[in-house]
Amino acid sequence: MDRRTLVAGVVLLGLVPGFAMAQDVERGRLLHENHCRMCHDSIAYKRDAKIAKNYSDVRAQVTRWQTNTGLGWSESDIDSVTRYVAQRYYKYPRPGEGK
Ligand code: HEC
Repeated sequence: MDRRTLVAGVVLLGLVPGFAMAQDVERGRLLHENHCRMCHDSIAYKRDAKIAKNYSDVRAQVTRWQTNTGLGWSESDIDSVTRYVAQRYYKYPRPGEGK
């Protein structure tokens, strides 16, 4: 998927009111799909992972990996991908959201 398709998808989701969080996670999913999943299909994220033991560890690893891969993501991109990965793979709650 190219960047325009990604942006179009994000803009489209933005038209649906009241789904800010779903939109955020969806953006995280798309970014992850494009930049991370090629490796992380085979290297599974696990809740009992050696590295990421809580939400903020996941965020630190997302930050580290987007640096490693030269993506130059914004804080908000990092937040979106952290939300997605933490929710979808680790089942870690986001601090303050309690689920
Ligand atoms: C070139 C392959 C590759 C790519 C691309 C990649 N990763 Fe990783 N990732 C790994 C490997 C290998 C590990 C485990 C060893 C390590 O941490 O160095 C890992 C570990 C991690 C962990 C910690 C796993 C744990 O044990 O809790 C997170 C979180 C993570 N990656 C997120 C990402 C994100 C987000 C992206 C996209 C920006 C990404 N990775 C892209 C290969 C990759």
